Amino acid sequence: MEIFKKEVLAGLQKSHKTLSSKYFYDDEGSRIFQEIMDMPEYYLPAAEMEIIERHSQVIAQKIAGEELDIVELGAGDGRKISHFLKVLHPFVDHLTYFPLDISQGILEENTKLMAKEVRGIKIEAMWGDFFISLPKIRDRKTRRVLIFAGSNIGNFKRKEAEEFLQFIDQELKTGDNFILGVDLKKNPRKILAAYDDPHGITKRFNLNLLNRINKELGGDFELESFDHYGTYHPITGAAESFLVSLKDQKVRIGDEVILFQKDEVIQTEISQKFDLPLLMELSKNVEFRIDSIFSDSSSLFSWVLFRK
Ligand SMILES: C[S@@+](CC[C@H](N)C(=O)[O-])C[C@H]1O[C@@H](n2cnc3c(N)ncnc32)[C@H](O)[C@@H]1O
Repeated sequence: MEIFKKEVLAGLQKSHKTLSSKYFYDDEGSRIFQEIMDMPEYYLPAAEMEIIERHSQVIAQKIAGEELDIVELGAGDGRKISHFLKVLHPFVDHLTYFPLDISQGILEENTKLMAKEVRGIKIEAMWGDFFISLPKIRDRKTRRVLIFAGSNIGNFKRKEAEEFLQFIDQELKTGDNFILGVDLKKNPRKILAAYDDPHGITKRFNLNLLNRINKELGGDFELESFDHYGTYHPITGAAESFLVSLKDQKVRIGDEVILFQKDEVIQTEISQKFDLPLLMELSKNVEFRIDSIFSDSSSLFSWVLFRK
């Protein structure tokens, strides 16, 4: 709560206002995100699911062993990974799945689904920020596969993504694997539609962040005085979301007052799209190397399997 407040105020006091996308996911935000995943414009989950359906068997053979920890960072509701674990399970005698997420509600959904769908595996839910929670199981001797799916890495700025990969590197021993789900650069209109949908669901998701600040930090944002604005830049590959202030306004958060001018924006999310040169560039300072890349039939999305 204290960190949330500190980061929100620091972000809104910058000359270019920002809010971190990790705060989207309170219970309501996680619920709206599930609606986003069901939208026809949001092609990412279907493309990633196709990869899981087409390639899980080969990936399972590559990572199989007698004992294995699967640690999924930012696991969400687990509906895609449950299919992967089902295929993997027969290849591993002792399989433990660690779903790790900052949202407690979604973690409960994940473990319920997993216990029902993939019988016989051990499930150890971990609630918290991945930078704090993952090191807590560093001493386990079991070989591990870390999974960062759903193009979660796209939510980091470039330097943060490089630092995240270095953090992953520290948490891998020789012989361990890392599976990274990345959304690929493609027709810009297709990408833009995924982040600026005609149903207004992405807008609700973005505005929920202000609602969360109102509820948890004593804010008084008027939601109807802000709009959602989504962009995509085909050269940098960055899809970005903003909230636009529709008038000059003063917003209170606890004892602090934040001033907004009409049309001033808050940057709330970046969703970076990838190609091979960018992936190579980001992973140049880590010890793990690309083993294989698995894509869907339309080359929208990839799972990159790394090995240390
Ligand atoms: C875009 S969703 C993807 C969920 C899932 N991996 C999928 O592919 O469906 C991102 C998830 O990461 C979680 N998350 C975001 N920031 C996090 C952090 N710093 N630590 C742990 N989990 C985080 C959110 O709560 C959310 O469930």
